Amino acid sequence: MASHSSDVVVIGGGPGGYATALYAAAAGLSVILIERDKVGGTCLHRGCIPAKEFLETAHVYRTIQHAGDFGFSTGPTISDFSVSQSRKNDVVNTMHTGLLGLLKNRTITVLEGTGRLEADLTVSVVDGADAGSTVTAGHTVLATGSVPRTIPGFEVDGSLVVTSDEFLDMTSLPSKVAVIGGGAIGCEFASMLLDMGSEVTVLEGLPSILTGCDTDVTSVVQRSFKKRGMVIRTGAAVTGHTPNKKKSSTVIHVDGGDDVAVDMVVVSVGRRPRTEGLLAEGTGVSIDDRGFVVTDGYMRTANEKVFAVGDVVAGTPQLAHVGFAEAIVAVKSILGESVVPVDYDRVPWAIYSNPEVAFCGLTEAAAKARGIDVVVKKDPFGGNGRARIIGDTDGVVKVIAERRADGSAGQILGVHMAGPWVTEQLGAGYYAVNWEATAEEAAMLIQPHPSLSETFGETLLALAGRGLHVG
Ligand code: NAI
Repeated sequence: MASHSSDVVVIGGGPGGYATALYAAAAGLSVILIERDKVGGTCLHRGCIPAKEFLETAHVYRTIQHAGDFGFSTGPTISDFSVSQSRKNDVVNTMHTGLLGLLKNRTITVLEGTGRLEADLTVSVVDGADAGSTVTAGHTVLATGSVPRTIPGFEVDGSLVVTSDEFLDMTSLPSKVAVIGGGAIGCEFASMLLDMGSEVTVLEGLPSILTGCDTDVTSVVQRSFKKRGMVIRTGAAVTGHTPNKKKSSTVIHVDGGDDVAVDMVVVSVGRRPRTEGLLAEGTGVSIDDRGFVVTDGYMRTANEKVFAVGDVVAGTPQLAHVGFAEAIVAVKSILGESVVPVDYDRVPWAIYSNPEVAFCGLTEAAAKARGIDVVVKKDPFGGNGRARIIGDTDGVVKVIAERRADGSAGQILGVHMAGPWVTEQLGAGYYAVNWEATAEEAAMLIQPHPSLSETFGETLLALAGRGLHVG
C-alpha cells in the first residue's frame, strides 16, 4: 500500500495522458502516470498506428498489382497475413519501447492499474500490479479515453463479430465482410479489406458515408470504393444477424432490405467514453448524459484541481492529435501560463483510406448553414504531373473562402482534400486556415514542381482570381 505524491497525477496513458505526463515533466513538474494496460493507449495498440500499418500493407499490395504498368512482371501475389500481422506488431512494439524510454528519461513514475479519483482528490489504484497505492497530487488529469460502441443484436465475440480492437489482431483476412458504420474507422477498414481482396459491404445508417466531410470529398471516396467493387448501402438499419452452427459465417438482417451473408462483421459505430468507476461520489467533476467529462476550453473540469484531455472530454473530436494539443493546454493551465484553447472547428482531420481524406475548417455546407457567403474553387488531381507519375489521380482539392463585398475571395475558411497522400499535404491547408490567410496571401506561396501539393497551389491561384491551369 504505497503512498505517492507528485505535482500532477495522470489517469490513463494514451496520447492525451502520456502527452500530459511528458509535457508536465518537461516543465519541471513531478508526474505520476497510472495506466491499467500499456502506455500508448488505444492509438498505439488498438487504433491509429496498427490501423495505418495495415493500410500501408494494402498499399504495398496495390503497388505490386500495378507493377506491370511500370514494366515489371511478377508472379501471382501470395499473401501470408500472419507476416503482415507480425510486422504491424513490430512497429507497435518499437513505438511502445520508445515511449517507455521517454517516460523513464523524464523520470515519470508509471503505476500499473486502474486509477480512481476519490472525493478528497487523492487517486487510488484499485487493481493491477500497483493495486492499493494512493497518490496525492496538486492536480489530477483524467485521460481514460474511449472504447468502441456496440449495437444491440451484434454481440462482439472477437472472431465473427469484431470491433476495431479485435480486427487489428486478426491473422487471416475474411473473404466476405460487412462493415457496420461508414465513419472514419469503417471507411479505413473497408478500404484496406477491399484492396486486400475481400468482398466488402458497408452498411451505414445515415444517408451518406463519412458524414461531416465535405460532399465533394465524400463523392470521390464513394466513387472510388464503388468502382473497385465495394457495396455501399446507406440508410441501412441493421436489426441483427443469424450465424451458422459453426459460427464461421452469418447473415445480417437489414430492415426493409436484402440480407447480407458474410464471414466477418466489423462494428464501427463510434466510440464511447471510458468513465465507469473513474470518479467517486463528491469529486465535483461533471459528467454529461453520455458519460463524457465536461471541461472548459482550458481543459479544466468543474473542480478546478481536476483537468481532462483526450477522447474522454465531451464535445470534442476523438483524435490523438487533439489529445496532444489538449495535453499542452492542460499543463499550461496548471502552470498558470497564458494559453490559447484548442479551436475545435479548425483541427486537422486525416482519414487513411484509399483514397485518403484530409481536411481542416468549414465544409461548404457548414459555411452556408452559418449564413456565410462563400467563394469555392476545386482542382482534381487528374491534371497533376506527380499524380500521373505515381499512377494515382483519383482525388480533388477544394478550398472555401468567404466572399468579399466585391465578390472576390477573402479569408480561407476550409481546405478539403481527397486523393494521394493528402494526409501528408494538409499541413499547408491547416496553416492557411489557422493563420486566417486570405486567398491572395496563400496563393503567393510557391509549391515545388512536380509535387502533389501543386494541386493545392493551383486551387489557391484560382481562388485568388486567376489560375494557371484552373479556371
Ligand atoms: P464515427 O462516429 O466516425 O462513425 C460511425 C458511423 O456509424 C456513423 O456514420 C454513424 O452514422 C454510423 N452508425 C452508427 N450506428 C449505426 C448503426 N446501428 N447501423 C449503421 N450505421 C451506424 O465513428 P468511428 O468510425 O467508429 O470512429 C470513432 C472515432 O474515432 C471517431 O470520432 C473518429 O473520428 C475517430 N477516428 C478517426 C480516425 C481518423 O481520423 N483517421 C481513424 C479512426 C477513428
